[in-house]
Amino acid sequence: MRASPALPEPSPEARAISEALSARIAARIREAGGWIGFDDYMAQALYTPGLGYYSGPARKFGSGGDFITAPELSDLFGACLARQCAHWFAQCGQEVIEFGAGSGALAAQMLGEFERLGLTGVRYRIVELSAELAARQRERIARQCPAALPRVSWLQAWPERIDGVVLANELLDALPVRAFTLEPAQAGAPSRVLERGVGLTDTGFGWATRPAEPGFAEQVRERVAQGAGVSGIDALACEGEIGEQAQAWVAEAARRLARGAILLIDYGFARPEFHHVQRAGGTLMCHYRHHAHGDPFFLPGLQDITAHVDFTAVAQAALGEGLQVLGFLPQARLLTNLGLLDDLAARHRAAASADALAWAREAQAAQVLLSPAEMGELFKAIGLSRGLDSPGPGFARGDRPLALEAA
Ligand SMILES: C[S@@+](CC[C@H](N)C(=O)[O-])C[C@H]1O[C@@H](n2cnc3c(N)ncnc32)[C@H](O)[C@@H]1O
Repeated sequence: MRASPALPEPSPEARAISEALSARIAARIREAGGWIGFDDYMAQALYTPGLGYYSGPARKFGSGGDFITAPELSDLFGACLARQCAHWFAQCGQEVIEFGAGSGALAAQMLGEFERLGLTGVRYRIVELSAELAARQRERIARQCPAALPRVSWLQAWPERIDGVVLANELLDALPVRAFTLEPAQAGAPSRVLERGVGLTDTGFGWATRPAEPGFAEQVRERVAQGAGVSGIDALACEGEIGEQAQAWVAEAARRLARGAILLIDYGFARPEFHHVQRAGGTLMCHYRHHAHGDPFFLPGLQDITAHVDFTAVAQAALGEGLQVLGFLPQARLLTNLGLLDDLAARHRAAASADALAWAREAQAAQVLLSPAEMGELFKAIGLSRGLDSPGPGFARGDRPLALEAA
């Protein structure tokens, strides 16, 4: 296990959890002959029951945790998404299935807005890998929307058939990825793809490469070539990730969607931008106590590990199962289309003579959600559907379907 003097020290209890998890991962690497894929390492580090980052006791979300997500910033985020769902409910079942519900903030916000809209029959189901988070979600909904609690349930597995809206905010970036290095063709030698996996070092874990199997190598070459026209990345030695599990997740959701929509929000890009020369080092990012850094082997189990989402791959997976792409746009566009600025103005009017400080905090949070320098542009929303005839207000202006061209 590595220690970085630049990052805050964990408590002795947290360090003990990380050491127990590291011992398990090290045993797994030895059993596998000294090498495991990065996707395997990431799955162990995030989801080992009781020890992994999402499955263990780490605080995770909010100012006392490691990172902050949109619903943790402002309840206006959930209110906006609830209005989008209300539009879709006129064309499909009144049900939301949220995947990876974190602290339960988004669920509580949406249930509150549904009530304000008079939609008191909406069923809300949550699929959450982490038992610890599922308990937190239940407690939060019970506290904030007690009347809705009987209509909320937690599923251990995918429902057979979905008639309603599937929703996931920052789920896909948390799904394990495979990692690669592409060495460009040089003086007579063809290009070479290596799979970057994880081996043991004197200080813990470290990157270890091996020649990629043909199918993976082919995927890497094809994708990087799609960024080449834009940035010339194929002339460089580059590193990156492929989110096979994210694609499989989208395909699974699509297969089960009988009628309704899938709304996914996350940070990432469409293909030509994704494999741009600016990202020649890949998009892996770790979050530990609000420090973002690039070392996935630092304190396993105590930090989040993520990779940006390839939205072209998401669209391809959905189209392959017969879904339609309703729209693809930056988060700022989605939220302004759904009235976030009107909500803010209304709160300003209401707060003018009361709590101006509270309003200033609201305005600051909205700025983070919308600003191109913060979450507004990097985060994207994609809407996918089966059997619906209109995309709804969220995708009314600023849709960028051309950005998904490679789909
Ligand atoms: C980055 S957090 C986002 C949490 C929340 N959606 C938010 O915006 O604050 C990722 C969440 O996805 C959950 N998760 C990861 N893989 C999952 C899967 N295959 N199915 C359901 N939940 C999953 C994690 O436990 C965690 O709650």
